[in-house]
Amino acid sequence: MKLEDIKVVGICGSGTMGSGIAQVCAQSGYKVILYDISDEALSRGLNIIKKSLSRIVSKGKMTQEEADAIAGGIKTTKDLNSLKDSDIVIEAVFEDMSVKKELFSKLDEITRKEIILATNTSSLSITEISKSTSRPDKVVGMHFFNPVPVLPLVEIVKGLLTSDETVDLAYDFAKRIGKSPIKTKDQPGFIVNRILVPYMNEAAWAYMEGVGSVEEIDEAMKLGANMPIGPLALIDLVGVDVTLAVLEVLYREFGDPKFRPAPILRQLVRAGRLGRKTGWGFYRYEDRT
Ligand code: 3HC
Repeated sequence: MKLEDIKVVGICGSGTMGSGIAQVCAQSGYKVILYDISDEALSRGLNIIKKSLSRIVSKGKMTQEEADAIAGGIKTTKDLNSLKDSDIVIEAVFEDMSVKKELFSKLDEITRKEIILATNTSSLSITEISKSTSRPDKVVGMHFFNPVPVLPLVEIVKGLLTSDETVDLAYDFAKRIGKSPIKTKDQPGFIVNRILVPYMNEAAWAYMEGVGSVEEIDEAMKLGANMPIGPLALIDLVGVDVTLAVLEVLYREFGDPKFRPAPILRQLVRAGRLGRKTGWGFYRYEDRT
């Protein structure tokens, strides 16, 4: 399979990440099929895409007609079999290894054997996911960053069984959709989350210990360390559940107490305060996209 052979991109999961990935692929001229299990999830995903495109239109970087054509070119489906003619599939469902394994095993049956199956997992083992297919050499991590239309990085993660050809094709594809890929190894958290998520967790601990209010901690990091957004607002942006899931993987895989999640994160998840996507995390939000 060569880069030129890729025409149709299948995306699994229409949440914040999946919809962002669908958008950038469609913006780069690919035919996109976006799969999720419910109409509600799909329409929320399309809504995120339309909102993001309208921001780009309002900056004068795209016409409304172009935005409509991009959004209109994304086909949504609740039937996984609709991904059978994909030339690459990128999975972005929630961070649960058993869900991912089941999905990859189905994708392996449905799709052509020569295509790449990529996962946007934030920290789960690519090698373990790859073993649920008959083509572990063609399973690779393509880890995007939120907001996907804005942040340039895609980590290209090579599992123990991933071939060099697969890594190179995923790398070239990431460049073709306008991203700046960096290759890395299948280690928990890869590069960015291993470094960034403990920083976010430390902010949650500091908040619990009364070092400052939510606003004070965030303002301090913006004003004193030139961060574009405070660490607690970043947890809300990424998702409290996603942040907790990454920390749990880091804690379990490295067995190092420095990664232990701040209890406030678990409490917020139990309360359904998952951040921006549910309208309430550390902060309240009018706009959930
Ligand atoms: N779609 C399209 N454009 C968007 C957008 C979106 N969803 N969100 C922001 N933008 C654009 C804005 O229109 C604006 O464009 P301009 O430069 O042409 O004016 C530009 O991005 C900057 O946005 P704003 O002026 O509204 O606000 P900020 O300057 O605060 O930038 C931000 C917003 C880019 C989100 C910035 O706050 C930021 O970079 N935050 C940090 C994000 C981050 O660290 N992400 C990584 C999280 S870790 C992760 O995702 C991995 C996972 O596995 C956990």
